[in-house]
Amino acid sequence: PALPLSSSSSSTLADSNGPKQPFVIGVSGGTASGKTTVCDMIIQQLHDHRVVLVNQGCYDIHRQKQKSVTLSLLAGNLVRYENLFCNAFAIMLEYQVSRCFEQLMLIGAFKDSFYRGLTAEEAKRVHEYNFDHPDAFDTEQFLECIEKLRCTQSVQVPIYDFKNHRRCSESFRQVNASDVIILEGILVFHDPRVRNLMNMKIFVDTDADVRLARRIRRDTVERGRDINSVLEQASPFTYLNIFLYAKFVKPAFDDFVLPSKKYADVIIPRGGDNHVAIDLIVQHIRTKLGQHDLCKIYPNVYVIQSTFQI
Ligand code: ADP
Ligand code: C5P
Repeated sequence: PALPLSSSSSSTLADSNGPKQPFVIGVSGGTASGKTTVCDMIIQQLHDHRVVLVNQGCYDIHRQKQKSVTLSLLAGNLVRYENLFCNAFAIMLEYQVSRCFEQLMLIGAFKDSFYRGLTAEEAKRVHEYNFDHPDAFDTEQFLECIEKLRCTQSVQVPIYDFKNHRRCSESFRQVNASDVIILEGILVFHDPRVRNLMNMKIFVDTDADVRLARRIRRDTVERGRDINSVLEQASPFTYLNIFLYAKFVKPAFDDFVLPSKKYADVIIPRGGDNHVAIDLIVQHIRTKLGQHDLCKIYPNVYVIQSTFQI
């Protein structure tokens, strides 16, 4: 398939950012377009490289089979005191705790997220809150995290309590410096400061009807929400339903997400079904990482490549 490419892709890891910075990939697209699926596929195929995924909005942590994510929820408290326990007891306790958190995550209660916490007043009227508007995100903190990761510093990604729409002030996910940083979210291309930190921008382009069908399935089956309770506020999850899809999600897609597609270097039709596109992207990242390694070994060697070719 034709993969539309833009000239902004011509910069390389070595020539634009200096030899030692990680390769930053942005993955955008509408809700339920398959962004997470595409990221998971890229990460799986890059298994011999250090890759981290940083999500701007919601990430269904249970889909990522990484125990460390659940453990790090408590890292602030537990790991700090780890030395006080004998190893066996600490491991057993961590396991139990992580199981509890996995259960909570399965119903979608806690996720990595740069969503702002709602004020008490906003939380009371959550059905009027637009989670698809750029203002719903803490872009300054998102930017700060990316800048640190690019400088190979580790960061603490906030954990969001989706039940109460609050930041879990005590819990963070520790993200360490890596060769590849993938930034995923519906609005990762919206802010130019964030966009300009990316070496490669991917837009997952999936038909709106398909996305809506997937979202209904995901929100009811995977996120425990009730599709029938359109205006009812009894459940904490009822604010996301067909009514609010039409009121907030679709207009925000038209106003903010779709216009940012023009910044993409690569557009992937059909998301995770498009194995050819994903293979080509992985191949490109491998090439860049090869150059990265070369630059690490020979810091005075700069690899110059003026065109991006798939
Ligand atoms: P996004 O991260 O863009 O919101 P996801 O990757 O989470 O999208 O996919 C949304 C939902 O659609 C999930 O339930 C996922 O399992 C499902 N899904 C994703 N890609 C496909 C596909 N190619 N075919 C069928 N279902 C898919
Ligand atoms: O994973 P996806 O890209 O679909 O995540 C973005 C969507 O998550 C947004 O369209 C927003 O409506 C939804 N969302 C949610 N619950 C929140 C915040 C955002 O379902 N508390």
